[in-house]
Amino acid sequence: MYSEKVMDHFQNPRNMGEIEDASGVGTVGNAKCGDIMRIYLDIDEEQVIRDVKFKTFGCGAAVATSSMATELVKGRHIKEAMQITNKAVAEALDGLPPVKMHCSLLAEEAIHAALWDYAQKHEITIEGLEKPKSDIHEGEEAEEEAY
Ligand code: FES
Repeated sequence: MYSEKVMDHFQNPRNMGEIEDASGVGTVGNAKCGDIMRIYLDIDEEQVIRDVKFKTFGCGAAVATSSMATELVKGRHIKEAMQITNKAVAEALDGLPPVKMHCSLLAEEAIHAALWDYAQKHEITIEGLEKPKSDIHEGEEAEEEAY
């Protein structure tokens, strides 16, 4: 059911933990499954993500997607990080079962929420970034219909 990469990131999650005095912190949840994900970003003056950590209270796919999402945004400029969609995260994991696609959406939304927090603190606007939803379940149906 799961690819080897999903199993690897689930069993050996990268960048798990938290960052003290993070530049931005984002927490999102899905009321339907009850899973919660928190992302911490350390962003330098050049707007490059120097470090990223996550804490996920959720299913195995949520852990694996958080882990992969942190790997994908680490070292990237915030504008590049904005381009990383949940589909990119799922693809980097060699796919997810359709019923687990919402777990990857949680990872995308958690990164956006952390970027939003950073933007608020620095009073800047990040192109394409919208105020995060606290419950991603609302946007989920539309996303799942695409599959
Ligand atoms: Fe909800 Fe995975 S089952 S995040």
